[in-house]
Amino acid sequence: MNMAPKITKPNLLSVEDAKALDLPHMTEYFKDHLNPGQLHFMKLLGFNKVKIERAEGMYYIDQNDRKILDFFGGFGSLAFGHNHPRVLDARIKFQQEKRHEIAMAFLSQYASALAKNLAEVSPGDLDMVFLGSSGSEAMEAAVKVAERAAGPERSRIVYAENSFHGKTKGVLSLTDSPLYRGEFRLVDETLCVPFGDIDAIRNAFEADPRIGVIVLETIQGGGGIISAPVSFWQELRALCDKHEVLWVADEVQCGMGRSGRFYAFEHAGVVPDVTALAKSLGAGKSAMAAMIARRDIYMKAYGKPNTALIHGPATFGGIGEACITAIEGLNILYDDDLIANSAAQGAYLLKKLEALQDKYPKIIKDVRGQGLMIGLEFQDFSQTLPMVLRPVVSVLDDKLKGSLSGFIGALLLKDYDTLVAFTEYNRNVIRLEPPLICMSEHVDAFVDALDSLLGRGIVGIVKDFVASQVK
Ligand SMILES: Cc1ncc(COP(=O)(O)O)c(C=O)c1O
Repeated sequence: MNMAPKITKPNLLSVEDAKALDLPHMTEYFKDHLNPGQLHFMKLLGFNKVKIERAEGMYYIDQNDRKILDFFGGFGSLAFGHNHPRVLDARIKFQQEKRHEIAMAFLSQYASALAKNLAEVSPGDLDMVFLGSSGSEAMEAAVKVAERAAGPERSRIVYAENSFHGKTKGVLSLTDSPLYRGEFRLVDETLCVPFGDIDAIRNAFEADPRIGVIVLETIQGGGGIISAPVSFWQELRALCDKHEVLWVADEVQCGMGRSGRFYAFEHAGVVPDVTALAKSLGAGKSAMAAMIARRDIYMKAYGKPNTALIHGPATFGGIGEACITAIEGLNILYDDDLIANSAAQGAYLLKKLEALQDKYPKIIKDVRGQGLMIGLEFQDFSQTLPMVLRPVVSVLDDKLKGSLSGFIGALLLKDYDTLVAFTEYNRNVIRLEPPLICMSEHVDAFVDALDSLLGRGIVGIVKDFVASQVK
């Protein structure tokens, strides 16, 4: 028997090494092996100085035991906060019982139960579920099921200006960002209309019988927390019925109770033909996403044995621990009344932000949102800043010019231990998507921090930001 040569173990870091990495090494590996360009922005905002050691509830805890209030909420991925004890317990028990994860050969009790729960929380006959592991994957599944049900003669897809549906190639074709679309070759049978413009949609449907699908976020996240009135969704439903166009509602960010209803479209009392969830479906501990379709649509697309695997589960679709994590999350959502809490705390936060807008009209341009999905838009100060400060600001990165939200986000973290999120397409909007476990004391702490920061005035804020860069 030939002896196989011994394979030497490469110089691998262990799990304990990973946990113990210091900031210089984290920075070095990030720059050399992950994303040097992104590091540039992290440095600009001062986020590169923080090493998170733990996270619990509404807070991250850094290397200096500093508690950072999380109003970013992973762009809506943390409905249950960080490391919810019930989620942890369910996962630990699942591991201790040595449950199986990959279930492609057998029926999975976990995937079946999660699908049943999703059908239970979804209105109308949104009953058929595909499980995946990212919002993009769920949205790909949503667009594909609709395309197959609409048929080859109705292959045109309508989407909205300022939309964000993910970065995989199919949904990138429905994502309205020149930056993200780059020069990739995308699906060409698409039509872009202004968000919330029912006349544009009616005209498109009437003019082009090849349109078979319309894809819309119910609340635009990346576009800057933009909603459409209830009447828009009701008219959209009627138009889709009239023209037999399938409506795909992207609820990846605004679903799971964030808007104050399980799905944001429920505010309008209408039901889409297909929808998608991700982010908080993973309960902050797992990568879980779902497409949920009307049963007749699903059956038309994949209902027969010879069509069943056209878009069947991928390797990690319905993986065990992620499924039970999502099941526990859904139960917590209702047991702890988090959807109602989102509506109540969201209304409270909005009211307090409106008061701040009255106090600082030269700084805050608009506040808007539903539930705990709130946008705070600042005035463009690039032209109003005193002449002396303009050259200082102009040497900063292009992305931050005229964008007060970058300065405010950086200073909220540095001076007030508070984290907020930015918005892809509108750099003047801060996105507030705290966990749905947020209580009024957290809202008060956040608004007090913002009030104190805005009290420095635009010039003070810019000067303090610039000073933080030279340190
Ligand atoms: C509305 C919406 N759809 C789809 C996606 C894509 O999700 P993922 O990043 O998990 O692929 C996102 C992510 O931000 C989103 O906000």
